[in-house]
Amino acid sequence: MPAQLIDGKKIAAELKEEITGIVRRHCADGKRPPGLAVILIGEDPASTIYVKNKREACVQVGVLSFYHHLPDTIEEKKLIDLINSLNKDNNVDGILLQLPLPKHIDAEKVLECIDPGKDVDGFHAYNLGRLAQRRPLLRPCTPQGVILLLNHIGQSYKGKHAVVVGASNIVGRPMALELLIAGATVTICHRFTTDLAYFVKQADILVSAIGKPGIIRGEWIKEGATVIDIGITRLADGTLTGDVEFAAAKERAAWITPVPGGVGPMTVAVLLKNTLIAAKIID
Ligand code: GUN
Repeated sequence: MPAQLIDGKKIAAELKEEITGIVRRHCADGKRPPGLAVILIGEDPASTIYVKNKREACVQVGVLSFYHHLPDTIEEKKLIDLINSLNKDNNVDGILLQLPLPKHIDAEKVLECIDPGKDVDGFHAYNLGRLAQRRPLLRPCTPQGVILLLNHIGQSYKGKHAVVVGASNIVGRPMALELLIAGATVTICHRFTTDLAYFVKQADILVSAIGKPGIIRGEWIKEGATVIDIGITRLADGTLTGDVEFAAAKERAAWITPVPGGVGPMTVAVLLKNTLIAAKIID
């Protein structure tokens, strides 16, 4: 039987609806709305779309978005000055710095200038450290979104082998930490893994976050596996596609996320959730 689709769009819409209600009740009490500062540097087309989606989502749920669009020639010091002023701004609960940054800016250094209490992306070393210690505060949005999708389908973790493909600081590594906290046995594959097929074939839960269309072959998928595709690439003809050979994988998996409409909408919904956590409106 072909896999059931995990409808991230619908699950994200439900979460956003819940958030809308919480924000409405909060403001009805006469309190100020939560605020998210969004910083975009340059004109990268993918980043521009991601930021537009994030700002529109803020409007939908009643979160104020403060937009700072900076030229890609911006000096690192100027960016740090802006972050410092947002750290002090009482109307700003969360700060999102869209990545990647131009090459002349040291991303790790700049991310560590964000007040960890306003770090709604969960990328600050403090928040990643808390996650590694299984005492998470603000958790990276995409990995948390994946866990919400897995919980939604009633995924069990204990005794399951989760294989994460990709070891980036913002997706693969925190994803592995989340699955570890959930109770799975976790393997991380990366650019130096010599036999990717060997590991993927063992995955009860497969999470791919590479950004190379079709790198995960359909015939590698274990029968009955749950397949989560975080990779998203725009092909020359304009269509969006994931890392997994979807049609073939669907014949073997029990559950699979589509691309688009799988993980992407969850990232945005969790960003809003994190903004409410940073604003101390929810835990
Ligand atoms: N670039 C790609 N994904 C993300 C994300 O989740 N947050 C930020 N800030 N930048 C990104």
